[in-house]
Amino acid sequence: MTTATLTLAELQALDAEHVMPTYARLPVAFVRGEGSALFDTAGRRYLDFLGGLATTSLGHAHPAVADAVADQAQTLLHVSNLYLNDLQPRLAARLDRLLGGDGRVFFTNSGAEANECAIKLARRHGQQQGGPERFHVLAAYGSFHGRTLTTLAATGQPQKHEAFQPLPPGFRHVAFGDADALAAALDERVCAVLLEPVQGEGGVQPAPPGYLEAVRTLCDEREALLMLDEVQTGLGRTGRWFGFQHAPGVRPDVVTLAKALGNGVPIGACWARGDAGTALRPSEHASTFGGQPLAARAALAVLDVMEAEDAPGRAARAGDRLAAALAALPGVAAVRGVGLLVAAELGPGLDAAAVSRACLDAGLVVNAVTPTALRFAPSLLVTDDELDEATAILRRVLEEQVGT
Ligand SMILES: Cc1ncc(COP(=O)(O)O)c(C=O)c1O
Repeated sequence: MTTATLTLAELQALDAEHVMPTYARLPVAFVRGEGSALFDTAGRRYLDFLGGLATTSLGHAHPAVADAVADQAQTLLHVSNLYLNDLQPRLAARLDRLLGGDGRVFFTNSGAEANECAIKLARRHGQQQGGPERFHVLAAYGSFHGRTLTTLAATGQPQKHEAFQPLPPGFRHVAFGDADALAAALDERVCAVLLEPVQGEGGVQPAPPGYLEAVRTLCDEREALLMLDEVQTGLGRTGRWFGFQHAPGVRPDVVTLAKALGNGVPIGACWARGDAGTALRPSEHASTFGGQPLAARAALAVLDVMEAEDAPGRAARAGDRLAAALAALPGVAAVRGVGLLVAAELGPGLDAAAVSRACLDAGLVVNAVTPTALRFAPSLLVTDDELDEATAILRRVLEEQVGT
């Protein structure tokens, strides 16, 4: 099937009337995907270099994931977490092995919920270790941890807080990458430090060299948990299985995952090791859908493919090629990122939203992660030809916009 039964205009009209206006939609509706390609209502092909915001890490409609989901749908979609299912414990064991062992997992449906779990367990752990006052979480300015009230409070973007006051208390923010600022704020009331190894929504800003190592040491000295939000960076995106693996010797206490884990099937995970993994007791946390058979089966299939294809290694190689190609384009002032989470900072006079819109018109999906930077998060299985095709489209768009 290449064409939808409704036209773009019909879909736009329905959306405008019936969907809450929380998204400023671009004028395209996708109806099908295959690998790095997306197809719209008119059957037009686009090269997807955003991957559903770093989510479809194996590309669209990956056959192994599609087969697993279809088979599971005909077997057992859901059973309450009051009972075991035959997939969730296996998935937890797989993730624990990838994360180095000694940990336990709570499954969720999204990244925000994975962070909610992390924050709740940090509070319980803090109370258990240091008493009722130890409930503060330190996070970084520029971070993004989700849109629930609590993860919004953790998010270090004050302008996003304004409309929703009062937010839950207990969150403080320090400059990202500044270990001295963190040391000054890390007092005995702090139960955990929550950071992204690369700030994704904050503009694709990697932690500076040595920062996570310094934070790990501080957390050890002050008995705070080091919690890493790998919702965007996890599972191969940065060229390693996890973003923290770029910081030699750093082992976090808590890691949150989502996006790539189901390759588009909603599933998130909060992993915690040692005491932190048992801080939440029966009836203190739950989720109806978290870790249900359908989502767990999808995630197991995703991990199978990622391991078989060495997705992290492929992301590292493709990321190098993409970064080098972007750096050579007219109008690109700088390229930053790790692996296949890359931003191109545009030169003076260029507006990233206008460039990304022109790219869409030209058949390339990317987004403006800041007013001056484009973000690229393609499939980790992207081919060299697709990389070359994407940069050729962007070159044409930039040549036009630099010239105007
Ligand atoms: C680092 C990070 N944490 C949390 C989230 C929230 O995830 P979700 O939208 O699945 O709730 C995101 C989403 O972009 C993210 O990038």
